[in-house]
Amino acid sequence: MTSMAQPLLPTPIEGLETPALLLDDARMRRNIARMRTQLARLGVAFRPHVKTNKSMDVTRLLMDSPSGPITVSTLKEADYFAARGVRDILYAVCIAPNKFAHALQLLRSGVRLSIILDSMETAELLVAFAQANGACFEVLIEIDSDGHRSGLAPDAPELVPIGGYLQQAGMVVKGVMTHAGSSYDSSTLDGVRAVAEQERAAVVTAAQRLRAAGVACPVVSVGSTPTALFAQHLEGVTEVRAGVFVFFDLVMAGIQVCTLDELALSVLATVIGHQADKGWTLIDAGWMAMSRDRGTAKQAVDQGYGLVCDLDGRPMDDLILVGANQEHGIVAHRDGRLADLTHLPVGTQLRVLPNHACSTAAQFPHYHVVGTDRQVHHIWSRFSGW
Ligand SMILES: Cc1ncc(COP(=O)(O)O)c(C=O)c1O
Repeated sequence: MTSMAQPLLPTPIEGLETPALLLDDARMRRNIARMRTQLARLGVAFRPHVKTNKSMDVTRLLMDSPSGPITVSTLKEADYFAARGVRDILYAVCIAPNKFAHALQLLRSGVRLSIILDSMETAELLVAFAQANGACFEVLIEIDSDGHRSGLAPDAPELVPIGGYLQQAGMVVKGVMTHAGSSYDSSTLDGVRAVAEQERAAVVTAAQRLRAAGVACPVVSVGSTPTALFAQHLEGVTEVRAGVFVFFDLVMAGIQVCTLDELALSVLATVIGHQADKGWTLIDAGWMAMSRDRGTAKQAVDQGYGLVCDLDGRPMDDLILVGANQEHGIVAHRDGRLADLTHLPVGTQLRVLPNHACSTAAQFPHYHVVGTDRQVHHIWSRFSGW
């Protein structure tokens, strides 16, 4: 069920009720081609992370075949894609005991689901559940390549015992995986290249240690958009999981991984008023539309809650969303100067580029897929929740 009146397509974006999430079809396809070219050069398989798009229509364009492979961030994502024919799914957040039954249900429905963990504690709980239910799970051990969040250090003493325990207990130790989240904090491309090499070396070291101890470890999986696009080589790695590249966003542009004209996602918004004495123009896209993500706040150029563009997607005169209430966005000049914004009367439509594509897209139930003619050609649904 949707409350949105479905317009006859194609329809000009000017006719849309706002806020609306626009997806630039040509940019998205170029972004996908760019990643594919890079991964072909590196000689690694692609297991796209679909948490950014959460939509079968987008994911179809990313997958090698209708059955996958893909990476997901929730089991609900796994359900959604499995119901649409995807069969090879990696759930890339450490499993918790209250999700074992759900994972088993996916396995028994014919999905080749792999799960991850990073402790003996979880391994023992998983094995107990598997043995009680006559199940066998395919497991990857998560490696921490940069101190960013979860995972075992590549030289952690527990690594080999966990792998050995899982294997002896009849589980399939599919391999090791890592996510170099610190690449998002890089300020130069050389910095990204260094993180990419650190990511590669960490996970390859972990795989070598497991193999030397007799633990089969066929899969060596890495992935973040910056490291995938700027890795010099990926020797020893078998697959890459990247996700946000499909749309890119201001954070990625801030680390120079992409240019502003590669950003495929924007929020269409409408001017609803002015506070001339403050230099503000109010639009109908606040944080409910843009999200609260302030990922550019710690970058060299702080883009507030988003970079304001005209209807063709061209940035306007250094206007950003300096503030965001639930439904009100406050547009002003980046440098705080008071300027005459009467060229933006009430009713003017603007496109706002998001800081973080994953969080902004998550605010909307649909993508309005826009062609180079500025017309909406498709409305693609996406899902949310856990
Ligand atoms: C485990 C894992 N793999 C891959 C990715 C993809 O990273 P990116 O969105 O930078 O491509 C993420 C993103 O958070 C992740 O958590």
